[in-house]
Amino acid sequence: MEIVVFGAGSLGSLIGGLLAREHDVTLVGRDPHVSVVRRSGLDVGGAFEFTVRPDARTDLSAFSSTADLGVVTVKAFDTEAAARALSGRVETVLSLQNGMGNEQILGTELDRVLAGTCTYGAVLREPGVVNCTGRGEVVCGPFGAAGSETSGETDRSGPADRADRAGSDDRGDHGDHDACEDRRAAERVGNALRSAGIEATVAEDMADRLWEKLAVNAGINPVTALARVPNGALRSGNAHELAVRAARETARVAREGGVDLADGKAVAALEGVIETTAANESSMLQDVRAVRRTEIDAISGHVADRAIGSVPVTETLRDLVRAWERGQSLR
Ligand code: PAF
Repeated sequence: MEIVVFGAGSLGSLIGGLLAREHDVTLVGRDPHVSVVRRSGLDVGGAFEFTVRPDARTDLSAFSSTADLGVVTVKAFDTEAAARALSGRVETVLSLQNGMGNEQILGTELDRVLAGTCTYGAVLREPGVVNCTGRGEVVCGPFGAAGSETSGETDRSGPADRADRAGSDDRGDHGDHDACEDRRAAERVGNALRSAGIEATVAEDMADRLWEKLAVNAGINPVTALARVPNGALRSGNAHELAVRAARETARVAREGGVDLADGKAVAALEGVIETTAANESSMLQDVRAVRRTEIDAISGHVADRAIGSVPVTETLRDLVRAWERGQSLR
């Protein structure tokens, strides 16, 4: 499969590197990382140990073909630019981003958009070198559709009709034909990921799963960024309690919008990711260390904006990260 990975930071480089073992991959990222990958290839370390030589570019202006798949891994606030850059250059696009609202933005420029969640941990050690700091899972599926017609390793545990319930403002409006095509595209993408050795599941309840992932990020990201600790530090103690309360608040807001996310499920997902990515520094901590803008608005900000009533832990975490951002000359 011909695949463009748009956003070759930590996660994009890891996913792109894994995909490049099997597929024809183009990484789109920044220099000096891109120049080093072009010159010497991409080293993938940590839980893996291999080198690949994908194509690498800083933009797609000279990219002449139409790729089968675009994998979007840019920060949530760069999604509009990604949508414009990929428009007309990919058949299907899969978002593996943090935060909410990315699929709708991609859908303004691209016809076939799949939603995805990813719990692999990744750190860009130096230009040309990415480490996998936790083997997780990619789940992908149709974003704007619900239905039953799937095959292969599709996870049917989440009733498809849940995707039709509240929270519908978070989804696109697809007809039956598009819904079938989306499901077929999701199966193709799932197969492509698995053939490259990536743990991948195709699911029909992506709207619910995006909220579950949001609960994980709302618990882990601001707490680790503010305390400057790896994910594993949230296994116990006050940091654990804070993360659990933020995840529960997110689950409550999801339910207020009609999404079926029990507190226990959100907390189990949070604790599972803390365990599998214990050695990882979260993407928000990596942003803080690099003095970059964070995704706080798309994570805790999204939860707080949709809450009926207050979400005190989430609001406090959001305000503290925003206060840090305001005090910096962000890169
Ligand atoms: O943003 C992140 O860092 C990741 O989404 C995750 C899964 C929390 C791992 O650190």
